[in-house]
Formats: sequence, structure tokens, C-alpha cells
Amino acid sequence: MNYIAIRVDHLSKSYRIGQPETCKTFRELIASRITFPSHLIAKGGSSARDKCNQIFWALKNVSFEVETGDVVGIIGRNGAGKSTLLKILSRITAPTEGSIDFQGRIGSLLEVGTGFHPELSGRENIYLSGSILGMKRQEIDSKFDDIVKFADIEKFLDTPAKRYSSGMYVRLAFAVAAHLDPEILIIDEVLAVGDAVFQKKCLGKMKDVSKEGRTVLFVSHNMNAIEQLCKSCIILEHGELKRYGGDVRDIIKEYIFGTEDSIRSPEWVNQGCSSDNPWFNLSRFYIGDENGNPVAMPVSSDSEIWLYIEGEILEKDPALTIGYAIYSDDGAILYWSCHTDEMEDNWIKLSKGKNVIKSKLPGRFLNEGTYRLEFIARLHCRQWIFEPGNTSPSIFLTLYGGLSESPYWLTRRPGLLAPIIKYSKVDNK
Ligand SMILES: Nc1ncnc2c1ncn2[C@@H]1O[C@H](COP(=O)(O)OP(=O)(O)OP(=O)(O)O)[C@@H](O)[C@H]1O
Ligand SMILES: [Mg+2]
Repeated sequence: MNYIAIRVDHLSKSYRIGQPETCKTFRELIASRITFPSHLIAKGGSSARDKCNQIFWALKNVSFEVETGDVVGIIGRNGAGKSTLLKILSRITAPTEGSIDFQGRIGSLLEVGTGFHPELSGRENIYLSGSILGMKRQEIDSKFDDIVKFADIEKFLDTPAKRYSSGMYVRLAFAVAAHLDPEILIIDEVLAVGDAVFQKKCLGKMKDVSKEGRTVLFVSHNMNAIEQLCKSCIILEHGELKRYGGDVRDIIKEYIFGTEDSIRSPEWVNQGCSSDNPWFNLSRFYIGDENGNPVAMPVSSDSEIWLYIEGEILEKDPALTIGYAIYSDDGAILYWSCHTDEMEDNWIKLSKGKNVIKSKLPGRFLNEGTYRLEFIARLHCRQWIFEPGNTSPSIFLTLYGGLSESPYWLTRRPGLLAPIIKYSKVDNK
């Protein structure tokens, strides 16, 4: 039986534009007293307040439940309300309406600047975070060395957190959040700050935490990390919950491509124009699955996809060669491919009448992006039937995701190609 670790019920959060929030939670209160001693907290003149009476809803009526042990990715554009949601869950800030309910201790790593106290040293912050989580001093002592080792900040343990670089800060904050045995781990954009080695360590640690059956909520703009790590995914849009489900890859696709007005078509169909050549009259040109069903874009780089060419031959000519040219989105040609590229014995035999030809597109070869595939037909050494160069029928292939399972390869790399190439060790003789 699955237990509910987090229940979020009709949660809303409003801000008065331009006005600082009043402290409503324990953490906030401590933070504000350390950062702004009480005699320095402005009493706030009423005239200034009147000017900023506009209310802005950062979260609107958000409800969802997370099962124990689930790893939930939270995605959404800047300002969608992701950090606000995590701050409410971590009790950094209070909701305006609605409620949250959760089972177990929450360890959180929020945006740099939240959670830790700038005036306190790294060491003090570790103990403070532990005690906020309800841990006893001995419990924190037993985790202390692991935290310091993971964060790799031994030399700066007694330096105030405000002197830390953002990378050091995040390293320590992540180490604290992940090592203090929280039942629920909440992480906001940790991958944005740390270096590549640390990012890998964090992802590994999050995987370990989730394998131990703990619940993880992870906000990131890095879709590959979300895809690799999460079992379910939430889209927040303008403060509202737009999607929540376990089909992580589909949800990411919807997030990235769903709102685009025009997805260029992966299918070309002859709308009744008859070609004046008898050698190959193209009727349909499209991207499909192994069985010939058209596939919706985008497709994952590692999926099996075929290019289909359907057309009619009225007069057979042995010099006929057909195929396609492929271009990057900015018009660079990547390659041409024709059915006559192999040795002649291996050519498919075209016949008079209708022909349907398919050609597999190499998987994990092209990088994420949109490509134009243009139909080519030619009588070898004699004449073009469909000459590439913008006038021939074209379709569009959009690839997204599935580039690699490597923890070192999380984001789109530069370049048009993204092949995974084997490496092997040559033994010393
Ligand atoms: N203290 C605040 N006072 C006023 N508005 C705020 C406050 N905190 C957040 N907001 C606003 O609430 C909205 C949601 O902010 P939030 O930080 O939750 O977005 P986000 O989804 O985390 O964005 P990002 O991807 O940029 O981190 C934004 O428009 C933001 O300007
Ligand atoms: Mg944020």
C-alpha cells in the first residue's frame, strides 16, 4: 500500500507587490532576527504601504498528493511559482490560503540565500539546520563528518556563510539537506550553481535518497536531469498546476513543445498535383514508426523512427535513385542519403506502380533540435526529378531528450550531432 507523504490542498499564495512579507514561520522569524535585529526592522510608514497595495498571486489553488518514495520533478517557466511552493512546503513562508500536510521530516535546499543564516558559520548552520529538523545534538554529530566531506568545505567550516561563494554555499546546503536523514527532500535548482563534478554527486545522492524510499521534490530547469531522476512530474504555469503525472517524458515534451503555436509538420502529402515525370511521382513523405504509423513530434533521440517515401512509378528506369537531404534548423546540410548508396546487390527493387519505401533514421546520432528532411529523386548522371535546395517536398523532424543515460551528459551539447561513441582500453603489452 502506498502512503501519502505530502498533501497539498487548495494552496494559494499572494504577495503585495513591493512590500516585504511579515514573518509567519519559525524559520523566518529566526532568519529575520539574525539578519535584521529587531531594533532595525523598519516599522513601515503607512504612506509607503498604501502605494503598494496591489496583490499578486504567485500560487493559485494548487492541490496534489505525493506518495511516499516518489521523486517528483517540478517544472515551469521563470516566475511560475515553483520556489514559492517549495518555500511553503519547507515552512520558510506561509500560505495565504489552503493547507499542506506531510508525514516526516523535511530537508530542503532552496535558492541560495534561503535556509542558511549568513552571519553563522558553516558549522553553526549545520547544527541549526539539524535542530530545526528536530534532531538531537548526538544525531547531528554522527552525520557531521559526512556532511563536511560531501560539501568539501573543511577549510571554511568556521567562516560565516555570507563569505561563501554561491558554489560553496550550495554544496554545504545540499550536503546538510541530504545527509540529515530527512524523510522528504526538497531541492530547488541545485544543479544551476554547482560545478559539473558536484552536480553529478548531487544527482547520485538524490538517486540514493530516493532508493531508500524517501520522497524527493526536485525543481529544475534541466529537463535531462528531471527525466533521469524523477518518477513523476508537475508543470506549474502562472501559479497553477497544469499537469501532474507519471509519464515524465511526455510531460516534459508538453512543457517544451505544447505551447508552441506551429510545430512544423513531419508529414507531406501530395494534395493532388500530378508530377509531369513518369519515373517517380511522390504521393506521401513522412516520419513514422516501424509499422508505418505517423509519429508525433518531438521524438526522443533514442527512439526507433523511419522515414517513409510513397510514390508511383509509371515508367521504370534503372538510373532512378531516391532518398533525402537533411538540414539543420539554420540551413546547414548534414548529409544526403539515397537508396542506391550501398553495393548494387543490396538495393531495394522498385517496381512499376505504387512503391512504399522506408529507411531507418540513425538513433542517438543527431543532437536535440529540429531538422528539415527534403525529398531527393534523380536519374543518375542524367537529370534531377526532385532536386534538393528548398523546392523539393520537405518535412520536419524534431528531436528532444533521450541523448544519453550518462550522469555526465545532462544537457544538450553543442553541435549538430550527438553520437554516443564507444571507447575501449588498449592493454599495455
Ligand atoms: N516576496 C515576494 N514578494 C513579491 N513577489 C514575489 C515574492 N516572492 C516571489 N514573488 C513572485 O512570485 C512569482 C513566483 O515566484 P517563484 O520564485 O516562486 O517563481 P519560480 O517558478 O521559482 O521561478 P524561477 O524559475 O525563476 O526560479 C514571481 O512572479 C515572483 O516575482
Ligand atoms: Mg525559483
